[in-house]
Amino acid sequence: MNLTTDQEAMLAGKKGWPLQIAMKMLAAVGRAQDAPELIPVTSAHLVIDGTALGKAGGDFLERLVVEGGRFVIPTSINAIAVDRTKPLKTAEEENQIRILEACEKMGALPSCSCNPFIQGIVPSFGEHVAWSESATAPYINSVLGARTNREGATAVASALTGLTPRYGMHLEENRRPNVLIRVGTDLASVDQFSLLGALVGRLAAERIPTLEGLTRIPSIDDYVSFSAAYAIHSMSAIYHFSGITPEAKTLADAYSEPAPLPIIIDDDALDAERRKTANGKEGPVDVVSIGCPHASIEQLREAVEKIESSTNSPEIKVKFYIHTNRTTYDIAEAEGLISVLLDAGITVTADNCSVVSYDKLIKGVRLATNSTKMALFAKSVCNAEILFGSTQECIDAGLSGIWKG
Ligand code: F3S
Repeated sequence: MNLTTDQEAMLAGKKGWPLQIAMKMLAAVGRAQDAPELIPVTSAHLVIDGTALGKAGGDFLERLVVEGGRFVIPTSINAIAVDRTKPLKTAEEENQIRILEACEKMGALPSCSCNPFIQGIVPSFGEHVAWSESATAPYINSVLGARTNREGATAVASALTGLTPRYGMHLEENRRPNVLIRVGTDLASVDQFSLLGALVGRLAAERIPTLEGLTRIPSIDDYVSFSAAYAIHSMSAIYHFSGITPEAKTLADAYSEPAPLPIIIDDDALDAERRKTANGKEGPVDVVSIGCPHASIEQLREAVEKIESSTNSPEIKVKFYIHTNRTTYDIAEAEGLISVLLDAGITVTADNCSVVSYDKLIKGVRLATNSTKMALFAKSVCNAEILFGSTQECIDAGLSGIWKG
């Protein structure tokens, strides 16, 4: 990989340890991926979940601060494992805050969300960026038309240098679709987009799909639900919605050769995906989790409307969570939504979620959710019994204590 004189100087340690370590990471990835060079990136998004980084991660980031490391591009932060406004109870929680504060000292914006798009952090078409969190990459590439690989720790290196290796999603030829999926069913809600994302991700696997046949333009909430589900089932960091997303205005735009024969997804296929996701039956529910990815203000308003029109009385035995980010929480609080949710026995978390948290779900818990990503994580992390449905079904279960299916 060709490096400029300036980049060689960083690699040799002539510009300090933080830039040297960052350049070592980027050069190693670049060489492994046969990247010809490093290119500038305009923003980075970091995963700094303390449950994954541990004390060693905190030590590393603090050393970067002490040695003069500073982020040279706008840098946001994914969900963290604690709610920043709550008292810290354990050394692990203190470590998470230490990690966050180190990143803030280097210039990061403490967005603390897997859905930073609803906080106005939105790269533009054609921008090259370096974003971690697998679920954000499909949204960046597919909906915004900006360019990112699914970054890992390398996002920190990009934040420090403003650079990334030129490979993968940064190359035009790697963004073109090679499988066509026809959606023959009307989708009306985030749970349906989540199911569709999971199914499309599995069908596409390592290929890049174009979907045609959507009968309406998805909302941001639909897109992030689809993207999060797609990301956990697919190796790819991009998809296209024909006639909607920027690089697939028409099928002819999307495919350099005649489009392949489509795979059809109809009502039966979506129902089968629902049954595959949900392994629990009717009956008592232990935990309800809405807001994966983090809920928007529209989703919080919708939850309040549904609660206010519900005939169920709050059942405090159910742990009922709605996850959002701090900005949205503050807006909802000013609108008076948070007090309605709290009165209904709901815990509205900001910054974290049921999965990215030190407060772990209990093994074998019966969990109701409208997110296939939350469902998959809860199944794999704590062998949860999954009750999957619409936001309305989840709210009804949270208030009554019973999943009706
Ligand atoms: Fe976000 Fe947690 Fe889901 S980080 S995508 S709410 S698993």
